[in-house]
Amino acid sequence: MQEALTFDDILLTPRYSNILPSDVNTESKFTRNISIKIPIISSPMDTVTEHQMAIAMALEGGIGIIHRNLPIERQAEEVRLVKRFENGFIKNPVTVSPDDVVDTVHRIAEENGYKKVPVIDKKGILLGIVTELYYIWPEDKSKKVRSIMKPVKNLVLAREPINLSKANKIIKNEKLSVLCVTDRSGKLRSIVTRKDLEKNQDYPLATKDKDKRLRVGVALGTGNDLLDRARAVAGKGADVLVIDTAHGHSKNVIEAIKILKKDNLTKQIDVVAGNVATKEAVRDLIKAGADAVKIGIGPGSICTTRIVTGVGAPQITAIMEAVKGRGKNTQVPLIADGGIKYSGDIVKALAMKANAVMLGGLLAGTEESPGETLLAGGKMYKAYRGMGSLGAMEKGSKDRYGQAGIKDSGKFVPEGIEGRTLYRGPVCKTLYQLVGGLKSGMGYLGVKTIKQLQQKACPVKITSSGKVENHPHDVTITKEAPNYQNN
Ligand code: XMP
Repeated sequence: MQEALTFDDILLTPRYSNILPSDVNTESKFTRNISIKIPIISSPMDTVTEHQMAIAMALEGGIGIIHRNLPIERQAEEVRLVKRFENGFIKNPVTVSPDDVVDTVHRIAEENGYKKVPVIDKKGILLGIVTELYYIWPEDKSKKVRSIMKPVKNLVLAREPINLSKANKIIKNEKLSVLCVTDRSGKLRSIVTRKDLEKNQDYPLATKDKDKRLRVGVALGTGNDLLDRARAVAGKGADVLVIDTAHGHSKNVIEAIKILKKDNLTKQIDVVAGNVATKEAVRDLIKAGADAVKIGIGPGSICTTRIVTGVGAPQITAIMEAVKGRGKNTQVPLIADGGIKYSGDIVKALAMKANAVMLGGLLAGTEESPGETLLAGGKMYKAYRGMGSLGAMEKGSKDRYGQAGIKDSGKFVPEGIEGRTLYRGPVCKTLYQLVGGLKSGMGYLGVKTIKQLQQKACPVKITSSGKVENHPHDVTITKEAPNYQNN
């Protein structure tokens, strides 16, 4: 019987190096035609990637894939929000109506931290703004917003189209804390805040298309709505279509690739197909036209596929098999999806010749993932669940697990669990640590590029005592490190 290995079973042997982590270039390929400056992709899960995550991932040099537990129009809207994002402009600000009471504004400030709230009517026409200057007294709480707002006639406004440097100038010259941008009819289109300008950074690594818009991917199923969904998101500018199934080596997935590659509205967009774990599967998906293949059957932190079905493949072996299946088609990237617990696992996945990694659990606890933060036992958490969990399948992902025909949720056979993960703050902090670990790993191996990492890394299999030695041992950790937790 063949032996199969995963991340914890191997280590990379150090090599002579004159390379510092700061010399390293982490650029890699996501698909045949799309490069990314950091080889990290956020997973299409309903507790991981909607537009906020996709925007943050693309700004930092990776890319996010919008999940598919959304009606077609909502998923297309998520794509639109990413493609229309311009650093500094807040495109869908929280607003209130003139008939709301000041207490509502208070709550917005408390829950979201937004202290300046535009007031709009039912048609979206800007009527005024309330800021903290107008509502500090307790007796104000029941007053109508209409009675205290600064009316639009007294506001300095900007009209679309406007670019960020012009908006900056207005804010500076007029000494504003917030600038509202409207269209010709007076509808509120976006706001720009002084605070954002102050912390405004450049994003030199951002993943952008030829029109300088951020790139975004979209998950699709193989069901009847495949083409409608693909056309709707293509219409909003989606850069990548990801056929997202639990068993990618299947007739449905092969046919879905062919359908997308034939249709006039989608054929110019790169298609990623998965998930698979064997050489035959990779070969067949590439033959069908896939522009990248996603590897991973059951490694994910929330997955129970291997336990429920007895089927799967430990991830390092799955990547090695996939490399064999890809053969000479090296222009088709392999994405290692699931099971990444630490930055060192990213180095191992790439060293085994994956081109990028897809993360769920490591990103689910960040500010930009969908959902509220939860407080339990004095710690902050965010919900994280498998797309094959009961809750996610009820919301639509049942066809990912071949259970589209089941109407009664009591009959689902789940392949994932629902849980929570520690809140980790903005995703840029997590990415900083992950990319930092990757760069340090490349420094130890004396390699400057991902390609050299793939050519020169020398993996060794370790024993269970080696694994114990890998982690801190024989001490009690007294202070949390930003890049290490041992659950
Ligand atoms: P991590 O380890 O990053 O894994 O949390 C995320 C990946 O796990 C896959 N996924 C699932 N696999 N049952 C499964 O067997 C599930 O319910 C499930 N939900 C997500 C998916 O590939 C994701 O990117």
